[in-house]
Amino acid sequence: MAEYPNKVWLNGEILDAESARISVFDRGFLFGDGIYEVMARIRGRFFYEEAHLKRLDECLQKIKIDFDTRMLTKEIPRLLKASDIVENDCLLYIQVSRGVAPRTHAFPHDIPPTVMMYVTPKTLPDINSINASVLTMEEFRWSRCDIKTTSLLGNVMANEIAVQRECYEMLFVRNDIVTEASHCNMFFVKDNIVYTHPANEYILDGITRQVVLGLCADLDIVVREEGVSKQRIPQMDEAFLTGTSTQIASIKQIDQHFYYKGDEIGKVTKKLQNAFLGLKKTGF
Ligand code: PDD
Repeated sequence: MAEYPNKVWLNGEILDAESARISVFDRGFLFGDGIYEVMARIRGRFFYEEAHLKRLDECLQKIKIDFDTRMLTKEIPRLLKASDIVENDCLLYIQVSRGVAPRTHAFPHDIPPTVMMYVTPKTLPDINSINASVLTMEEFRWSRCDIKTTSLLGNVMANEIAVQRECYEMLFVRNDIVTEASHCNMFFVKDNIVYTHPANEYILDGITRQVVLGLCADLDIVVREEGVSKQRIPQMDEAFLTGTSTQIASIKQIDQHFYYKGDEIGKVTKKLQNAFLGLKKTGF
């Protein structure tokens, strides 16, 4: 069971987690009207902090929440210190909701957003050693998956089905094309070419996804930002997931199809996992 953090940063104040309170009229609670970010601190630095904060900023703009994310860069170190996590690896969670107002669907104006952050100690493995079994289902979320919204009911329902069936992830299939998973991006490999869904409104453009695309360029691995159809899953050579805490996780099985008999990991997946580890070790 995951543990609660000891401190919470809430609207500029650092509080003991059990005394952090928000209104029941907060639109994050009533509507899931907010944006969030998760980033990993590795060896004393946040992994691609700027890219995460840029995405937070862009998502807030997409839903017209007025909040200056630049203030977070000086508040995050304060939170780390108060949480006694300056030296340790951890995960940082940031959430910005539209704020507190009487319940109306349309956006209320001139209300301050509710901003909350916490850190939990977490050391990610050098290389994610899971060789995941995953399932597929018809996409049943919305058409703005590019927005990192706190309205994650579709994602959590999908992940719950996967977990009930002892799988790591659920892949979404929209108009026959595999898009992404409930909390990860999806990649395939065929004839040494890497395939991943284009960064449009049907997926979240993961920061790990972007890092992996950069590694492919460094390693001269050809990439096609094209969706793969569900029918072509068995024709692919390798498949893997990416995400902040998942890093790069090999996929062994999708529905009834097995990529590997035992616990081997595909050549391109392995190469990218090693390059990703190199990046973490040598600085980023
Ligand atoms: N999940 N797609 C979805 C739907 C996600 O929720 C995530 C991240 C990703 C990968 O994005 P990134 O590489 O930037 O972490 C793709 C986070 C970690 C979460 O919900 O906890």
